[in-house]
Amino acid sequence: MTVSTAVTGIGSLVTNDPSLMSADNPLGLVPDAAVVIEGDRVVWTGASSKAPTTDNRVDAGGRALLPGFVDSHAHLVFAGDRAAEFAARMSGRPYGAGGIRTTVAATRAASDDELAGNLARLLAEARRQGTTTVEVKSGYGLTVHDEARALRIAARQTPETTYLGAHVVAPEFADDPAGYVALVTGPMLDACAPHARWVDVFCERGAFDADQARAVLEAGVARGLTPRVHANQLGPGPGVQLAVELGAASADHCTHLTDADVDALAGGGTVATLLPGAEFSTRAVYPDARRLLDAGATVALSTDCNPGSSYTSSMAFCVAVAVRDMGMSPDEAVRAATLGGARALRRSDVGTVAPGARADLHLLDAPTHLHLAYRPGVPLTAAVWQAGERVRP
Ligand code: NIG
Ligand code: FE
Repeated sequence: MTVSTAVTGIGSLVTNDPSLMSADNPLGLVPDAAVVIEGDRVVWTGASSKAPTTDNRVDAGGRALLPGFVDSHAHLVFAGDRAAEFAARMSGRPYGAGGIRTTVAATRAASDDELAGNLARLLAEARRQGTTTVEVKSGYGLTVHDEARALRIAARQTPETTYLGAHVVAPEFADDPAGYVALVTGPMLDACAPHARWVDVFCERGAFDADQARAVLEAGVARGLTPRVHANQLGPGPGVQLAVELGAASADHCTHLTDADVDALAGGGTVATLLPGAEFSTRAVYPDARRLLDAGATVALSTDCNPGSSYTSSMAFCVAVAVRDMGMSPDEAVRAATLGGARALRRSDVGTVAPGARADLHLLDAPTHLHLAYRPGVPLTAAVWQAGERVRP
């Protein structure tokens, strides 16, 4: 028999339930609410006083509950860190994609167990902070063996795995970038596709140009992967237009956009995923979320967690920065960190607390979701359920 649990006495429930969302209530908020879960699913939401009888009951004590965060962009299969590089940047050294090669060397030298252990540690760290879905990219192996190994390890811990063999040109191919693209679109893809859901490319000066990026994404599509693109992070470029043209699920970073890029995102089915941790840690200008939202684009917020440009697993931190410095309201930022991430991963079962959704719940030590931005840096996560299982505390 499936056990049912009611979380009652929720002071403020963020549902993201389309049947409750409106211009006046963009998050489908329900005050004095309860949520009933059965097995791994939400089966009921509504007024706490009307909650049906269940096997178990948890009293939220008037605190806020929201969907688990959906972190749709992270690079978590790696070894080592680059704290010294961060410190040098904070005293003026610019960020460059070249630092990726430092992590590539450390990752290649690590054992499978070390990589799997580091990934598990980071996923647990994210979960402690309310994140219940995480996308994980390869991209620090850059050989057939090391990219396939990264994805095999990732696929054991998340279904959201992304083949990023085209992160930078591997050091062995420094003089032969075309040869590296042939590897990424040929034997490396063959080895990686069985373990990946998505294909990604770093389309940027110093990484891959538009033609190379198109070749990588089209080869991935031909093998059944869906594209997403690292686009327009360090400067203006063709990444966003390419992402929209190829029907990518998301264009990620979107820091340097032309009006035509914004229009393309607003008019297409590609989510604009903003990664403020990267601008924070590289001391760069934040992306303009307001411009994208006003144009009608769908916006997601994610951590970009990686040892080089953004070593944070905290979605709450991203929400706070997005509100403080990117023109988002607290409601918009919370929505982008939950429903937005779900859209970027083309998932309808996460990012909402509604009947039928996966029971991913995040209880805050706070009366409303506004406190996520209002109380930056404060660990507000009181409890987390992932697929119906209480994983925290
Ligand atoms: O998303 N932009 C490319 N890749 C990562 C950075 C990786 C690194 O510096 O190690 C990013 O920011
Ligand atoms: Fe990234």
